[in-house]
Formats: sequence, structure tokens, C-alpha cells
Amino acid sequence: MPLSHSGRWREHFAGVDLPVPVLGGGTVTGINFDNAASTPPLRRVRDAVTGFADVYSSVHRGTGYKSRMATEAYEQARERVAEFLNVDAQSQVVIFVKGTTDALNRIAAEQARLDGRQVLVTEMEHHADLLPWRHRSGHLMVGLTPDGYIDLDAIENALKDSDGHIGLVAVSGASNVTGFISPIHEIAEIAHRYGALVSVDAAQLAPHRRIDIRPANDPGHLDFVSFSGHKMYAPYGAGVLVAPRDFFAGAPEVMGGGAIRIVTWDDTVWADLPDREEAGSPNVIGAVALGVAIETLLELGFDEMLQHETELGRRLLKTLGEIPGVTVLGGIGSGLEPERLGLASFVIDGVHHGLAAAALSHEWGVAVRNGCFCANPYVFHLLNMSKKAIEEVEGEVAADRRTALPGAVRASLAPYNDDAEVDRFADAVSRVASGRLKTRYEQAGDGTFAPEDGWPAILNPLESLAKRGALKT
Ligand SMILES: Cc1ncc(COP(=O)(O)O)c(C=O)c1O
Repeated sequence: MPLSHSGRWREHFAGVDLPVPVLGGGTVTGINFDNAASTPPLRRVRDAVTGFADVYSSVHRGTGYKSRMATEAYEQARERVAEFLNVDAQSQVVIFVKGTTDALNRIAAEQARLDGRQVLVTEMEHHADLLPWRHRSGHLMVGLTPDGYIDLDAIENALKDSDGHIGLVAVSGASNVTGFISPIHEIAEIAHRYGALVSVDAAQLAPHRRIDIRPANDPGHLDFVSFSGHKMYAPYGAGVLVAPRDFFAGAPEVMGGGAIRIVTWDDTVWADLPDREEAGSPNVIGAVALGVAIETLLELGFDEMLQHETELGRRLLKTLGEIPGVTVLGGIGSGLEPERLGLASFVIDGVHHGLAAAALSHEWGVAVRNGCFCANPYVFHLLNMSKKAIEEVEGEVAADRRTALPGAVRASLAPYNDDAEVDRFADAVSRVASGRLKTRYEQAGDGTFAPEDGWPAILNPLESLAKRGALKT
């Protein structure tokens, strides 16, 4: 009998079979459907990090053997990233940063200083791809289709009407709320036609779809791409910013050691890229972990993994769509719409999203996320909230009455998940939707729900890790 899909990949991920305590005192093998928030490490990444610790040393400036080894590993990781995205090495540079938020803030700071024209965003954006622009150069936000898809006409019209006053179009490669995948190359073509660059927030796209930056002379070329290692099976604090080399001018946003050629009493001569944008001691272990994650995904069969994830995503949408009282944000589709990640956010009639998430964890050992997923405008759009309703919520939340915040429950998949987990999840959701909870829950002032008798005690994670050496899975 052929290996089931999960059998094929599950063993490559760390911590995915962890027993978790549930109501009643027992444990079950947890289901992690919160991969869009963060992912477990690939086992090989975890082991490489442990192994690399033995040769870890400071990079670039040390002459010691370990320093040269660490430098080699760090630069190899940069090459892996460049190959993975098909970076145009002539015109672009790969910079290691903390993650997507850091990357987007860096672009926004430089863009405001060097260009200063407005940034075009869509209603779909995560706050990391919204606030840095809003509070620096200022943004123009275009709406979406009623179903919540990117509206290419709206983007083109905004650029046309701006008469050259928009310098950048910032768009998510895939939504962390609906999983909708954006037509990034078409957006790039439109942006370039109107003299703007394009920045892709690839936090959700990079782990779940192939990205091809395309050569700089291709109209669909992606100027900036940002993503995070912790969403890509390398949760060790590093992320990536790919940017045009000629974007950087003058002093870098972050200044310090390593970013210079020479400093005199009065003068600073900046180093070449990427060093000038990586001031301070970099997160070498994080970057190496990310490089190993990319290498491992490709070696294991990234395309087949993604195929499995996509099929699982369809099963998730279908099963959720069959549960009375459950509405999936963005709809469950007919298969004819643009592509979608293995992810679904949904609301349950008469059940608060926080209550559903708490019950799923406490009674079934399922980890999901609930709330607005750091994408308030998009969730408000998908919930069809009126301006008045949004203002009322804003008033409540601003006054710290957070129980008023609307939201949804999100299940997000990864290659190690399987059909049985989706089916167990759907069963749990249908029980929640039909009011068949096994215990009572209370809502706290911050909006979260907890079981009436409290959550099962959590072992001091550091103490237990130290005792066990590591979590054996
Ligand atoms: C679409 C999107 N953009 C940006 C981010 C921010 O990523 P990070 O927290 O790794 O900086 C996230 C994280 O959830 C995301 O989903």
C-alpha cells in the first residue's frame, strides 16, 4: 500500500505528535492548525541548529577557523534564499532581517526618506503591510471585490488617477485570513506601467507556493519580497528582505558595526551591500536554519508537499462548508476562483470565535487562532460590517472593552497535517456549532475565553525541556 501523504512528510517535522492535555484529565495527540501564525521546525533544521552550535562563531570579521566556517554557512544560506526565489543577483540583494514585519518597516523607512511618494495598499493587508506605510509616506488604500479578492482594476485606476504620486504598490502575496493568493506578477506589471515599484509581503506565500521574482527586465518582476523563517519551518528569528540594490542610498536606516568601510572623526564610508544593511551582529543561527529549511523542503519534494497541502485545503473547505451554522470567510468557492492556500477562517452562528477556539483546544486538543488575525480592515470587509458598526467597535475597543471585537476562527494547514486531522477537526467544529460543549467557559476582559475550571496546568516548559534534554517526538 502506498504511504499516506502524512506518513510521507509528518516524520520530517519536530513536535507534531506532542500529547496535549484535554478536558477530563487525559491527553490526545494535538492537532496543530495554527501554521499561519508560526510553524514547527523541520527536524533537520532543529538538528542542524544543534550541530551548527558547535561551530558557531561571529561572522565576517573573524580569522579563526570557526568564524570562517560560520561565515561560509551564513553566506551559503543567503545563496539558498536567492536561488529559491530566483533573485536577480545583478539588480537585487538578499538581506537577513528579523522577519516580515522588520523587512516591511525597513522598506517603509527608506522609501519615506528617499522617495516619499504615497504607497498603494489593498484592504487585504496584514497590519505589518499597512501601518509602516500609513505612518511614514502615507498610503492610499484600494478596495477589493465583494468576495474579498484583489481588484486589479481598482489598483490600476488608483495608479492612473494618482498621476505619478504613488511610488510603491505594497501587496500581500497570499492572505493570512482567506488564503487567497494574489496575482503578484500582474500587479507588478501594472505598478511598473505607472512608474511604481512593487513590494510583496510573502509571509504566507513563501512557505506555501513557489515564488519566482523574475528578471529585472521582465514587466512582472518583483522588486521587493519579504518573508519570515518562523512561518517556514525555521523558527529561529531570521527573515528575509529582497530589495533592488539601487533602492538604498545615503546612510542606512540601521547603523552600526559591520555596515561601514571606515569611520573617521567626521566621516563615514558605508560598506557595500548587503553588509551596509546588516549593521550589528546578525542572527547567524537563524539565517543558517532558514537556509537548511529551504534546502530540506526542496530535497523532500516541495511541489508534492504543496500539492498535498492544496488537496487538504480543499477537504477543509468542503467539510466546513457542510456544517450547519458555519460560514467560511471568502466563501468555500466552486474551484473556479483564483488559487487558495490550505487555510480557512470561519464564523459560527451564535458562537463567539474566542469560545470556539478555547473549546477546540480544551476539548479536542486542536490549536487554531481566533480574532482578526492582525488584518482588521480585511476582516471587517469580510464580515460585511457597516461603517457605523466599525465605529462602534472602535469606540469600545479604544476604551479597552475588548470583548466587543468581532472576529473568526482560523484553521491553517501545513504538509505534515493529514485527512484524518481535517475530519477530526470538522467533527469538533460541528459539535461546537450545534452547542454540544462539554463544559462552560468564561470570557475575560481582554476578550479571551477560558474553561470555567481553568486550563490544565502547563509544565514549566524550560524546566521540562532541561530535564528531558529536548522534546522527544
Ligand atoms: C500576511 C502576513 N504578513 C506579515 C506578517 C508578519 O510576519 P512576522 O510576524 O513574522 O513579522 C504575517 C504574520 O502573521 C502575515 O500573516
